[in-house]
Formats: sequence, structure tokens, C-alpha cells
Amino acid sequence: MTRQPRLQNKVAIVTGAGARADVMGNGKAASILFAREGAKVLLVDNVEERATKTLEAIEAEGGVASVFVADVTDEAQCRNLVQAALDRYGSLHILHNNVGINGPGRVTEVPQSEWNRIMSINLTSMILTSKYAIPAMIDSGGGAIVNVSSISAIRPRGMTPYTVSKGAIIPLTQAMAIDHAPDGIRVNCILPGPAYTSMVAGGMSTDMREVRRQASPLKVEGNSWDIAYAALYLASDEARWVTAVALPVDGGVTIDSPRR
Ligand SMILES: NC(=O)c1ccc[n+]([C@@H]2O[C@H](COP(=O)([O-])OP(=O)(O)OC[C@H]3O[C@@H](n4cnc5c(N)ncnc54)[C@H](O)[C@@H]3O)[C@@H](O)[C@H]2O)c1
Repeated sequence: MTRQPRLQNKVAIVTGAGARADVMGNGKAASILFAREGAKVLLVDNVEERATKTLEAIEAEGGVASVFVADVTDEAQCRNLVQAALDRYGSLHILHNNVGINGPGRVTEVPQSEWNRIMSINLTSMILTSKYAIPAMIDSGGGAIVNVSSISAIRPRGMTPYTVSKGAIIPLTQAMAIDHAPDGIRVNCILPGPAYTSMVAGGMSTDMREVRRQASPLKVEGNSWDIAYAALYLASDEARWVTAVALPVDGGVTIDSPRR
């Protein structure tokens, strides 16, 4: 029996659709899976060549996507990226808010400007993209938003700006889910664990990768595909009765792992 692509006739926006290293990234993997499952994907990134590499990977598989260069901390650019999806593909059903950066330090160490920068990139960007995507989704008959948080939200460890920005994504997700359920829009978030991805690959030793692999009950090294498959499920109609969920994808590490 031939199965239907899981995102057939859907239009998706992925933010942070490029990858900062040659290792596969979460936004890149989600973009590839969405396109593989039939979605038309707007690949948003503030670094054009990164998004272009994702586009090349999608087109090599026969998928449909295009690049839109934007900084998601800027409201006008968020409005423009939603308009670009509508202009290019005619509707909008999926928003994958993937952009996020590290934010190390304690409150005693982090300058206010750095604190504000992390909040702007990791948290406010999701509010700005959603602000313009939601009306477009309503016009398109409903949709799904997937916000990328982190297990750092529920397991703090020396990265307080990151933890707080990622933690706030959980109530943001829940509030948006309640606010927009009557609009036929589901809102969920993913909490990735210590996966080996483009975001963390730079400078990580083989020994550290092994420590991270051993940290989880499964003793399996996670990667961007693990995160992206969760995003695909939450974005698809298979999750039609799932909203306001914060889903760890972490090999079980938040339940049981050695503490330093
Ligand atoms: N182990 C992990 O990798 C891990 C764990 C927990 C959470 N996460 C989350 O996963 C997400 C990132 O995953 P990734 O693998 O795609 O990361 P990545 O850093 O490889 O790619 C993110 C992309 O976002 C782009 N970007 C950064 N700031 C931007 C901005 N202001 N506007 C537009 N684009 C911007 C970058 O250019 C980059 O191409 C983040 O939200 C991160 O917190 C990752």
C-alpha cells in the first residue's frame, strides 16, 4: 500500500533552517523531513549560505523549498518572512521556531546587554514570528507551531540565560496553545537533550561525546534527526489531538543521569 506524504499540501516555515557546522543541525534536519513528507518549506536563516545548503539537500531529493534571509529578532523581518511564505506558496500551516543560541554564565557574571540578546534571540523571536504566522494560519484553515526549547529549561546547569530563555518557552507554548485552540492552531514544544548536532559540534572532543552518550539510560548518542522526527510528528495531522505539550527528546536523560 502506498502511503500519503505526512505533510502533503502543507506550507511550512522553519527558522534557523541552516546549520552552523558540517554536522547535521536540528533546523536543517526538520526542513529536510518536512520537504520529504510533501511540505513546501520556507527556509529562514540570517546566514544565506547556510540556508542555501539546506535548500540544495532538499532539491537533491526532489523537494520544494526556498530561502528567505531574515533576522528573527526583528519584527518587520518576521512580518516579511510570513508574507514571503504566502506570496510563494499561497498559504501557511506550520511554523517551526528553531532558532536558538547558547547563553552561558550565572546572574553574577552576565552583562545586561548579553542577557537581553539571549532573550531576544531565543524567546522574543518566537513571539514575533508567531504574531504574524497565526493570522496567516487562520486564513489557511488552521495549523501547528513547534517551538524548540531544551532540557536546560527543566535541568539548569551553569547556563542561566539559556535556561531562563528556554524555560519561558514552555509557558509561552501552553499560553499560545490555549489562546489559539479555537483558531484550530496547535502549539507544542520540544526539549532536546544532549544530542550531537551542529550547534554543539564545534570543538567537542570524542571523549566528551562518549560522556554525553553514556549519560542517558539508553546509552545512545542522539542527533538532529531524533529531534526532527519529533518536530515532524507534532507538525503533522497525526498529532491533531496533541497541544500544549513539552516533549523531551533526550534518551531519558532528564529522568536518570549522573550528576556532575
Ligand atoms: N544538542 C543540541 O543541539 C540542542 C539541545 C537543546 C536545544 N537545542 C536547540 O536547537 C536549536 C538549534 O538547533 P540547530 O541544530 O538548528 O542549531 P544551529 O546553530 O546549527 O543552526 C541554527 C541556525 O539559526 C541561524 N540563526 C541564528 N540566529 C538567527 C537569527 N537571529 N535569525 C535567523 N536565523 C538565525 C543560524 O545562522 C544557524 O544557521 C536551538 O533552539 C537550540 O537551543 C539544541
